[in-house]
Formats: sequence, C-alpha cells, structure tokens
Amino acid sequence: MSQQFQHDVLVIGSGAAGLSLALNLPAHLRVAVLSKGELANGSTFWAQGGVAAVLDDTDTVQSHVEDTLNAGGGLCHEDAVRFTVEHSREAIEWLIEQGVPFTRDEQANGDDSGFEFHLTREGGHSHRRIIHAADATGAAIFTALLEQARRRPNIELLEQRVAVDLITERRLGLNGQRCLGAYVLDRNSGEVDTFGARFTVLATGGAAKVYLYTSNPDGACGDGIAMAWRAGCRVANLEFNQFHPTCLYHPQAKSFLITEALRGEGALLRLPNGERFMPRFDEREELAPRDIVARAIDHEMKRLGIDCVYLDITHKPAEFIKTHFPTVYERCLGFGIDITRQPIPVVPAAHYTCGGVMVDEQGHTDVPGLYAIGETSFTGLHGANRMASNSLLECFVYGRAAAADIIAQLQQIGMPSTLPCWDASQVTDSDEDVIIAHNWDELRRFMWDYVGIVRTSKRLQRAAHRVRMLLDEIDEFYSNYKVSRDLIELRNLALVAELMIRSAMQRKESRGLHYTLDYPQPLSDARDTVLDPTVSRH
Ligand code: FAD
Ligand code: SIN
Repeated sequence: MSQQFQHDVLVIGSGAAGLSLALNLPAHLRVAVLSKGELANGSTFWAQGGVAAVLDDTDTVQSHVEDTLNAGGGLCHEDAVRFTVEHSREAIEWLIEQGVPFTRDEQANGDDSGFEFHLTREGGHSHRRIIHAADATGAAIFTALLEQARRRPNIELLEQRVAVDLITERRLGLNGQRCLGAYVLDRNSGEVDTFGARFTVLATGGAAKVYLYTSNPDGACGDGIAMAWRAGCRVANLEFNQFHPTCLYHPQAKSFLITEALRGEGALLRLPNGERFMPRFDEREELAPRDIVARAIDHEMKRLGIDCVYLDITHKPAEFIKTHFPTVYERCLGFGIDITRQPIPVVPAAHYTCGGVMVDEQGHTDVPGLYAIGETSFTGLHGANRMASNSLLECFVYGRAAAADIIAQLQQIGMPSTLPCWDASQVTDSDEDVIIAHNWDELRRFMWDYVGIVRTSKRLQRAAHRVRMLLDEIDEFYSNYKVSRDLIELRNLALVAELMIRSAMQRKESRGLHYTLDYPQPLSDARDTVLDPTVSRH
C-alpha cells in the first residue's frame, strides 16, 4: 500500500546542498531529506580537492571574483559570483562550527597566511584559497553534516527513496502553479508514496552519468533537472559539461579522480616519452582552467594515438605526497602504481554539469514553492567553465540562502491539503529489463562520442536523432511498466541529454567547455542558452 506523508520542507537530495539547507532550518519544522540510495551516494562524499573561499589575509574577494570570471569564459553572472564569494568565509566558518576537520596548517602555508588551516591551489586560482581535509574533503564534510542532521529530531533522513516527479497545482489541474510536493518510489516496498510539503527543494546533484566515462557516482542522472523541466521550470547552459582532466586510467579503476590539488602542489602532465606539453597550450601550464587542460590532453591523445597521458609528482618528497594525498596514494597503490615513484596514467572524464535549473540568489525556480540548489541548479556562478572547488562553495552559500528564504515565507504558506495518490492501475511488472540496460549503454556511448570535449554540428545532429528515438522508446516503456530506479534514471538522463544536445546545437560558437570545430571562435556577445518548457516540444 502506498503512503501519504506531510512535511514542512521536502529536501530531495542528501549531499552538501541538501544537508546544509536542512541544517539551516529551525528545529520546529518537520523536514524530510531523501536519498535515492544510501545517504552518502551523491558526489559530495567523493569530493577530493576542497572548497574555494577567501580566507587568508593576502587574498581578496575581488581576486576570487576575477579568477572565477576568467575561468568562466565571459558567461558568469557577476552578481552571482560576487554573492557567492562574499559569503564564502561565513560558509567555511559554519562548516567549522559543524565540526568539519579541515587540515590544519602545521607545516604548510608557512609564513604570511594569517589563517590556521592549510590552503591549497587548483587550476584558475591566482591564490592558495582551497580549504580541504587532506584529499578526502567531501567525505569529511558529509560525515560532519550527517552527524549534525542525525542529532536533529525534526530532520527525517530517508534512504532508498527515489523522487519520480513533482506534484504541482498545474499537474493536478488546479488553479495556480505552486509545487505541493513529490511522488517518491520507496525501493523497499516498491510503492510510490505521496510526499506533500509546504516547500520542496531539489538538491539532486548533476548529470555527468550521461557520459560513458565519468568521475561521478552512479546516481548523477540529472533527476532534478528533468523533474523541474517537466514541472515547467526553465533550464540554462546545459551544453557546458565539464570534463575533469585527470581521472585514473586503469582497466579496474571505475571513475577514480586524481585531484587537481596534485597539480596545485606541483604535479606535471607528461606524454609517454616524459615530455611536458601544457606549456605549449597555456602560459598557466598545468594550472590553466580545466576546459583548457582537458582539451589539451584530448588533443595530444588524438594526435599521438595514445590511450592516456601521465601526471607526475615523483619530484616531491614521498612523505609530502603521502601526507597531502593519502587517498590518491593508497588507491593508486592498490592498482600497483606507487605515485611517489611512478607517474599516474590519466584521462579526462565527465565531471560536472555547469548548467541546470534556473534560480535566483535564494534558489527560487520558476515554480513557486520549488527551490533548486547545488549542482542541479544554474545560478550563473560557473559561466562556460566552473573554476575548481567553487561547486561545494555554491552548495553551502545557496543552501543557506534558500533556508533563510523559506524561513521568511513560513507565515504565508500552509500545508497542502491531501494530494491524490500515484496511479499505478494501468501498468504491469516489466519482463523486458534488457531494454533499459541496452538504452542506458547506447545513450552514454553516443553522448561520449558525439557530445564530448570536441563537437561538430554533424555529430550533434546524429546525437539529436538518436536521443529522440530513445526518448520515444523510453516513454512507451514508462507508460506500460511499473517504475524502478533504473527506469526513472534512464528516463531523466535521456531527457537531460536531449536538453544538452539542443543547447549545444543552439550555441554557434566555441566558448569555455563548449568547443565545436564548426565554430571555433567565440562570438563577441556572450549569451546564456535558456530553454523554456512552456514554449518547447516536450
Ligand atoms: P550530490 O552530492 O551529488 O547529492 C545528490 C543527492 O541527491 C544524493 O543524495 C542523491 O541520492 C539524491 N538524489 C538524486 N536524485 C534523486 C531522486 N530522484 N530522488 C531522491 N534523491 C535523489 N567540487 C568542489 O567544489 N570541490 C572538490 O574538491 C570537488 N571534488 C569532486 C570530486 C569528485 C570525484 C566529484 C564527482 C565531484 C567533485 N566536486 C568537487 C563537485 C562536487 O562534489 C559536487 O558538485 C557537489 O558535491 C554536488 O553536491 P549536491 O549536494 O548538489 O549533490
Ligand atoms: C578535484 O579535486 O580535482 C576536484 C575539484 C573540483 O571538482 O572542484
């Protein structure tokens, strides 16, 4: 039997964004935080490098803002950048209060930093400004925030709950546009439950799983973007898919990232013959922004017909490497690579979704009562290419801002009345799950081949054609069979892929992460690609 629940705030997603929002709400509110797998299954837990923030006396808000604007290829919204960076110190102070064990500056920053924690560097940053917990920052942050959430009786943490779709007044045929909650598959019971809420928050992470090779965990399927689109929200800049330059290249290593902080601490990129190549591509060499480094690696791999390049930190003392990068050291050692003595084989892989659901400074989407925060959202911060370690920062700043906005609206918004249950009367159990598996594989493969680091109009057209066929097949499947996590994710991922392709086809220039051989130069006028479901085919 499916169930009905009511909460003041329904938070879909238990990563950095969702947990910080929930923890910033007052204790008298009933809050549900959903995760579609275990609570730790988002990208947050895997974050390595750290959080960018203006923390030491030699750094300035202006410098962080300028670096972000430069990395963003002329498309960042300066007001969003300034808003985020201006709130960076207070976000870090809040994390420290929550008990996040950031690495202290016993040996490292040295002399003139004026700050007790160690700060590292990553691509695009002109200062050391990345606060971190060795090379497992995400796990440290997630663990501390989860512990705080577990101490709060008003926060219900619900695992194995997959939001299927948002419930809006429009969907129910009522007057108005407001979001009233969501239908949620309980993977334990197999039933779709109804969650009514005064406020609903999408904190569902990104969509990098749309590519065959990715640094992201399995759940990064763009669920929030797809649900928001179906509910009537605009999305923006979905053509800007960030490829991280250095993921471990090893047949048994699934999606293991080699943090950019290695390059921040002096690691060099080399060809198989030991030659460095980044100086040929950018004066910032290994610390150029990610789009430039990933494209340079892709170029060299294609030019030489090689499977990978190498990241070399062997010139640093072994003790330094083991202290700063214990996770990377141990993981590589497990594959027989001693990074204190051997260069690491690396390739680029899909890493971050720069576009997303359009929001303002408080995380409001186009649908009243619905917020989007974290990687799911498009705030304007990242422009055409996200600067390293600005993503977690965005989760905390906007998570806190959205919570403040919800608090300010509490008086005016009541609980929705009883909502209709999910209708499963027309569907049966699927006996053709092989179709789902096949479609997953096909989608991720053609996205990698046709909508990757280097694009052409012809490749995008091919991808558009294939995704339309897949969407038709998936829609038919969805109408006839009971929902499962795999089907929900595939349906969402295919929709988001279609939006990505459509966005990429609209951009007749190369800028930041969108590079096409047919239009290799940027246009003089930098514009966002905004798609509006109320004026589109879907
Ligand atoms: P996530 O942490 O991805 O959480 C998503 C949540 O939504 C999960 O709980 C998931 O279960 C839930 N969810 C999704 N769909 C549904 C659904 N349909 N129903 C219910 N629940 C759902 N950024 C930095 O700034 N610094 C770094 O050092 C850094 N390192 C990174 C390293 C790796 C390997 C990766 C993959 C990313 C890294 N990033 C880094 C990016 C950053 O980690 C992410 O952008 C950020 O953690 C996203 O947080 P989030 O809260 O938006 O989403
Ligand atoms: C990394 O540690 O290289 C990832 C940082 C990021 O994605 O911001």
